[in-house]
Amino acid sequence: MDRVLTEKHIALGVTGSIACYKAVDLASKLTQLGALVDVLMTPSAARFVSPLSFRGVTGRAVFVDMFDPESETAEQHVVIARRAAGMIIAPASATTIARLANGLAEDMVSLTALATTAPIVVAPAMDHQMWEHPATQHNLRTLQARGALVVGPEEGRLASGHTGMGRLAETPALIAALKTAMGRHGDLAGRRIVVTAGPTREAIDTVRFISNYSSGKMGFAVAEAARDRGATVTLVTGPTALPEPWGVMTVHVQTTAQMAEAVASACEDADAIVMAAAPSDFRPAEVASRKIKRTGEEVTIRLAPNPDIIAGLPGDRLIKVGFAAESEDVLENAEAKVARKGLAFIVANDVTAPGSGFGTDTNQVVFIEASGRREHLPLLPKSEVAHRILDRVVELLREREGTRA
Ligand code: PMT
Repeated sequence: MDRVLTEKHIALGVTGSIACYKAVDLASKLTQLGALVDVLMTPSAARFVSPLSFRGVTGRAVFVDMFDPESETAEQHVVIARRAAGMIIAPASATTIARLANGLAEDMVSLTALATTAPIVVAPAMDHQMWEHPATQHNLRTLQARGALVVGPEEGRLASGHTGMGRLAETPALIAALKTAMGRHGDLAGRRIVVTAGPTREAIDTVRFISNYSSGKMGFAVAEAARDRGATVTLVTGPTALPEPWGVMTVHVQTTAQMAEAVASACEDADAIVMAAAPSDFRPAEVASRKIKRTGEEVTIRLAPNPDIIAGLPGDRLIKVGFAAESEDVLENAEAKVARKGLAFIVANDVTAPGSGFGTDTNQVVFIEASGRREHLPLLPKSEVAHRILDRVVELLREREGTRA
């Protein structure tokens, strides 16, 4: 289940486009995340995909006819508009975008969009010439100026057989945009949060490097959770297989020195840093300029220490949150790092425990603060661990401001 979407009513407007079939996947994924999805379709959308498909994946009524005599109420659009915590129109055709820009209410989608005060996400999908038309661009700018969030379209092969801008954004981006719009006024609105993720790589020669098993999952989860709570997020990440999170400024680095530089610059105007990355503590003292050849003899690699990134950051104006990846004496070792690195708190994880640490989707952690305060969390999805960390960051930011006032 998802902190933002669980038990929330989401109005999903589906309009006439060949990409309608992708909206079934969106409705299904939103439902799996715990949302109560009210699907509204234009009559043209209902010609591309049957309302039954949406009913099947959401288990809920689907609304197509503005004048449906079977409807529970004569003002069905008002009921849906009022209970919606967010509305997403995906795919949004050029016609629907024009209707929305001009305040026309000609079908269940445009009618509900006009009646709701919930945040609205518009996900255009159309042929590239329609997309590039000045009327479409003008209408979109009008919607954006009124606060709508536009996601996509993406470039690629279109139904017309041409290649260009016009493909509906993928489901993860649509969900991320919806969550971002819903979290705009969240408890981190107006805050700048820096997050690090993943391993770093230190070259031995032209083809080999020293690294570790960090997948980036923990750090990416923190970055996404902060975005969903309204923060402006910079994610500094080492090499991972994860796609860049939507709505997050992502900086890619390879080495610990590069991560240190990117973090120092991102932290200049930041409120907090959550350092979930596993930067390499050492690097080969010399990097061979060509591949080291196998001779049958032993090879010795001398390691030089890398800078401690988080320890070098100013702790007076920045809430510094570290992680401790420990395999023995977890709490003692982690506690020592709080003072040594000047942290507000450290998130200690036993990387040898099942379901915890590197590469897993879950983590079991303990928060340890400079005051000695400890909070033991059960095994949780990394997304929920991320929110728990941010809950504490929010409290600390408020405390800090209370003390300064
Ligand atoms: O990426 P995943 O697969 O999801 O795995 C998550 C994780 C296990 C990598 C993550 O939960 C974690 O524990 N990250 C910290 C790993 C680590 O480097 O721990 P450490 O105890 O060596 O370092 C303590 C803190 O100092 C960390 O916040 C670390 O980011 C930071 N550090 C470490 C070395 C260095 N040169 N500079 C640093 O700032």
